[in-house]
This record gives sequence, structure tokens and C-alpha cells, in this order.
Amino acid sequence: MTIVFSKYDPNLTYAGQKKFDCGNAAINKFAHDSLKSQVRKGVCVAYVLLPKQIPCTRLIMLGVDNQYKGRNLGKQLMKEAFKATKLAAQAVGSFGMYLDADAEAVGFYEALGFSLLEGNKSPNPSPMFLPMSGVP
Ligand SMILES: CC(C)(COP(=O)(O)OP(=O)(O)OC[C@H]1O[C@@H](n2cnc3c(N)ncnc32)[C@H](O)[C@@H]1OP(=O)(O)O)[C@@H](O)C(=O)NCCC(=O)NCCS
Repeated sequence: MTIVFSKYDPNLTYAGQKKFDCGNAAINKFAHDSLKSQVRKGVCVAYVLLPKQIPCTRLIMLGVDNQYKGRNLGKQLMKEAFKATKLAAQAVGSFGMYLDADAEAVGFYEALGFSLLEGNKSPNPSPMFLPMSGVP
């Protein structure tokens, strides 16, 4: 399996983190209980090895016709996408949902819990991710 070296992102859910066992109880406990909060607080950085291909659901395109915008239809469509993502995760496993958000839609996805992976690339599409733990 090809693996890549990656900076630990406290906004992601890492499958296996809670079961991590290197044989050292103190390090195991840190990885299980404290790593996420310590990185989030900015008091440490961490690096992980990940499979090069991470299974996730990718949302390619979403659009609501102009005359129906602002009626919660986009949100409803996303609820269906969340359902499909959960089913896929149960069947084959998934880290979460990935999409490339158009500049005007970044706020829409942020309100649904997605995070920008590389900052806002506006006017270009911005990669965004929602870990399975955030899929309602
Ligand atoms: C983005 C899009 C799908 C949203 O659909 P919509 O039906 O108008 O959105 P909704 O009415 O479901 O809005 C749901 C919530 O998101 C908010 N919202 C909608 N569009 C938003 C935007 N562009 N930025 C920030 N918030 C937005 C709404 O205010 C609403 O908030 P609330 O739940 O607090 O009331 C629609 O505007 C669209 O088709 N845009 C053009 C195509 C596009 O950019 N698609 C995304 C490509 S990745």
C-alpha cells in the first residue's frame, strides 16, 4: 500500500486513532485522548502516515434553479447526499465527504459543517471536507 506523510488535521476523523497502539501506554493515551485538542489549541503539531487513496464520497455538482433558490431546496438535496454518504460508509467505509466548492457556494457548505482544506481559493473552486463524524 502506498502511504503519504501528512500533517495531522484536528478537524478530520482518523480511522484507527482511538485504537492506536505503539506499545507505550503514555503515547497511546496521548493519541487517544489529547492529540486532537492539543493540535486544535495550537500547542503542538503532529504528522501521520495515511494511505494515499482515502475512501470518501465526492460530491461533484449541486445546483438549484434560480427561481427556486433560497427555499431550503439546496439544503434538502444535501440531506439526501448525507443519507447516501452514510449508506456508502456502512457498506464500504468512508472518511467523509469531499467537494470542490464554487467561490459563491463556500458559505453554503460551511454552514453545513464543511471545512476548507487549503483555504479559500476564490475565484477558483475550493476543496472542502466534512468528516463522517460531522455528517448529520
Ligand atoms: C448553492 C446552492 C445549491 C444553494 O441552494 P439554495 O436552495 O439556494 O440554498 P438553501 O435555500 O437550501 O439554503 C440553505 C442555507 O444556506 C444558506 N445559503 C444559501 N446559499 C448560500 C451561499 N451561497 N453562501 C452562504 N450561505 C448560503 C441559506 O441562507 C440557508 O441558510 P439558513 O439554513 O440559515 O436559512 C444554490 O445557490 C446554487 O444552485 N448555486 C449555483 C450553483 C453552485 O454554486 N453550486 C455549488 C457548486 S459546488
